[in-house]
Amino acid sequence: MSLETIATLSETSATQPTAPTATSTATSAAKSRRNFLATAASTSAILGTSSFLSRTVHAAGSDMIKVGLVGCGGRGNGAAKDAMNADAGCRLTAIADVFYERLEDGKKQLRKTLGEQYQASDDQCFSGWDALDRILQTDINVILLATPPGFRPAQMEAAVAAGKHVFCEKPVAVDPVGVRRVMAASASAADKGLCVVSGLCWRYDLGVKATIEKIQSGAIGEIVSIQENYLTGTLWHRTPKEEWTAMHNQVLNWLYYRWLSGDHIVEQFIHSLDKALWLHNDVPPIKCYATGGRQVRTEARYGDVYDHFSVVYEWADGTRCYASTRQMADCFNETEDYVYGTEGMARVLKNQIKGKEDWKFEGDKPSMYLLEHVALMKAIRDGKPINNGGYMCKSTLMAIMGREAAYSGQVITWDAAMASNQKLGPDRPDWGDAPAVEIPMPGQYKFIDA
Ligand SMILES: NC(=O)c1ccc[n+]([C@@H]2O[C@H](COP(=O)([O-])OP(=O)(O)OC[C@H]3O[C@@H](n4cnc5c(N)ncnc54)[C@H](O)[C@@H]3O)[C@@H](O)[C@H]2O)c1
Repeated sequence: MSLETIATLSETSATQPTAPTATSTATSAAKSRRNFLATAASTSAILGTSSFLSRTVHAAGSDMIKVGLVGCGGRGNGAAKDAMNADAGCRLTAIADVFYERLEDGKKQLRKTLGEQYQASDDQCFSGWDALDRILQTDINVILLATPPGFRPAQMEAAVAAGKHVFCEKPVAVDPVGVRRVMAASASAADKGLCVVSGLCWRYDLGVKATIEKIQSGAIGEIVSIQENYLTGTLWHRTPKEEWTAMHNQVLNWLYYRWLSGDHIVEQFIHSLDKALWLHNDVPPIKCYATGGRQVRTEARYGDVYDHFSVVYEWADGTRCYASTRQMADCFNETEDYVYGTEGMARVLKNQIKGKEDWKFEGDKPSMYLLEHVALMKAIRDGKPINNGGYMCKSTLMAIMGREAAYSGQVITWDAAMASNQKLGPDRPDWGDAPAVEIPMPGQYKFIDA
């Protein structure tokens, strides 16, 4: 089924959020893509694909769900543990990492933490640039994608083509071309009845979910503006060894290279931007402008990323989101979503509303990281696929749009970002030359708008 057909089907559903307002410059292809983004979450329900899903799960002739992991880093190993804890019938049966040493470390750690749920024999563990292709040839039902985001579009395409359910860490891409590839792969997953669950974990947090639902049901009146703060300290940096090549260093210190991370506005701040999107019923902003720079983290080892961004996003209805993020040591830190309405205000992460009636979420809060996998495994077992493709692509593009506005110093529209042919990384990465490192200068840097 094509994206266009899915968009048409979905547009007829009364349950869909309003599609974003198109500007006169949008191409029909961009419109179709945008419609898909607005509607992918429930497409699979419309298509009624549960029988395919059940066949896939039970292909092994048992109730076991076989899980494969790509990327044995902090998050990948954590996601594998969450997947095992989510469903007693899960087994980790295959593992992949581009580096042999990291694969071996991952195996050791996972064997220890997963106990009998670890069933990845050595011939089901793969390293090298083709590790993803080889793990997809095994009989896993689910793949956990937890490598640096620059690799995600190609991996997502391959995983869906191989008929695997996907848990996909955030962000899903680092450039608009990558976002469109993941949109298409998500649509294909919907066609095939495969699950796509996103690592945008706040969507699965019970307190945040309850707070946003209250706001959406009018607890603070109409939303006027949102302030997103992600003001935090510095992250890890892996000290290069003598034998590392430039490419080896970039892949291991991927946070600092935008072809791999998308810069920290995309890699980390996406969590906050996704909540602003969610508060707007997943309707994206129409445009943004921004400032940003590289003031403290200036050494060469920090690649080509900025250390602060401040973006003003504007929606078609006139509401705005004032979004600031900073990664600097020894400064004031705060991560919070402030939502101002005509009849009150809310703090989403604090799960608190001061409005017509004051309210605070007091319920249990199991780990949101676990809940993502509970939802995924339950969907697989029930034959009712979940597809988070819509919002995970939209919030990735929203972050890219803010980054490009800061880099260029120009206003960037949603339609221009959606139509952009910007592609940051190599088609087929290998251990040859590493991509050039160039720090964007506002006023000089040019946004690729088509
Ligand atoms: N949802 C969250 O709260 C959260 C938290 C942390 C990280 N993340 C996301 O998880 C992803 C991984 O982050 P991390 O902190 O675990 O990074 P990491 O560097 O610790 O781990 C990444 C692993 O992927 C491997 N790898 C790199 N390129 C590969 C390739 N092409 N094929 C196979 N393996 C490859 C690396 O060798 C490494 O072992 C990122 O997208 C990050 O944004 C999400």
